[in-house]
Amino acid sequence: MPVIKYVQANGQIVEADVPLGSSVMQGAVAHMIEGILADCGGACSCGTCTVHVDAAWMSLVGEACDLERDMLEGIGVQGANSRLSCQIEITPELDGLIVAVPA
Ligand code: FES
Repeated sequence: MPVIKYVQANGQIVEADVPLGSSVMQGAVAHMIEGILADCGGACSCGTCTVHVDAAWMSLVGEACDLERDMLEGIGVQGANSRLSCQIEITPELDGLIVAVPA
C-alpha cells in the first residue's frame, strides 16, 4: 500500500498508508490530517481539501484540470502545485508522495 507523507501546517509530518484507488483526500480524512475537511466528500466543489504537492512529485501527480483549477481560483488558491487532494488518485507510482496542507 503506498505511503503518503502529509506535512501539516504545524510542521508535523504524518506518514499514512493509503489504499490504491482511493484519493489523497480520503487518506487524509482516514488519518485525521489537520486542515483537510473535505466538506463535499470529494465532489470537487468545496475546496477544503487543498494541498500543495511537493515540486519533485508534480510530474507524476500532474496539474489540475480546468474544473479543479476554477475551484482553486474561486477560493483564492494559486500556484501550479496546488491541487484538490480529492482529485489525486492513489497509484503505485505515488508511493512516497509528499503533500503540504496549508494553514
Ligand atoms: Fe471538496 Fe475536494 S473534498 S473539493
